[in-house]
Amino acid sequence: MEVLVLPTSADVARRAAEVVLEGLAAARGAGPVLGLATGSSPLGLYAELAGAVRAGRLDLSAATGFALDEYVGLPAGHPQTYREVLLREVCAPLGLAPERLHVPDGSGRTEQELVAAAAEYERLITEAGGVDVQILGIGANGHLGFNEPGSSLSSRTRVKRLSDRTRHDNARFFDGPDDVPTHCVTQGLGTVLDARRLVLVASGPTKAAAIAAALEGPLSASCPASVLQWHPDATAVLDEAAATQLRNRDYYDASAAGL
Ligand code: GLP
Repeated sequence: MEVLVLPTSADVARRAAEVVLEGLAAARGAGPVLGLATGSSPLGLYAELAGAVRAGRLDLSAATGFALDEYVGLPAGHPQTYREVLLREVCAPLGLAPERLHVPDGSGRTEQELVAAAAEYERLITEAGGVDVQILGIGANGHLGFNEPGSSLSSRTRVKRLSDRTRHDNARFFDGPDDVPTHCVTQGLGTVLDARRLVLVASGPTKAAAIAAALEGPLSASCPASVLQWHPDATAVLDEAAATQLRNRDYYDASAAGL
């Protein structure tokens, strides 16, 4: 696991983009497969990648994208569905074809339909040859995707209930807390672990405790993002404010300085 701490969130976006570009350059097969997170954390990173596309350093015209998660029960086309968010933030600026953007289907009306959609999502990821680079944010409660505390470390894509904390945190994207859906379909932690490279970005003081638990706490379902410790190629790119509770900071900085 590599931990890179940089002065500002703008630096985080730039450095994380380099780690993503390196991972995509190593991708095998016809087109790279990119795992996409939503939330505010990766927006700067997506803007950097869009810059790389404009500069001719990145070509996603043959790429496939897989979202981490989707709300259950929002009407199709609702601006806060993660499909719409990713169409706006990733497909348009990065030149990823909308027909190759996959998002879990949260439109099912029965548990049976949602379970079938989750299984289909796993099948699509496998069919695409797996995810080359998975971009990740982290919830203030340590959630990854929408894997809330208590999620099995080997879970696969499935329906989950959102925690009160997550619904409260995400209320800023809706008219009010009661408008935030209660359930989601999310890739599982086992699904995330199958990606060949993980790149987690976090900025700001509200993420400091979750980052310390994820990177230096026990590997535990109580902090779903701690599965990063289990992955052979995971990089966490943090700003100073998100890194304040790390105990091994000196070691990370020395390692980042290279040989
Ligand atoms: C959201 C997403 C996660 C994201 C997290 C943090 O609800 N499902 O994938 O990492 O919560 O969001 P933000 O980056 O806005 O703090």
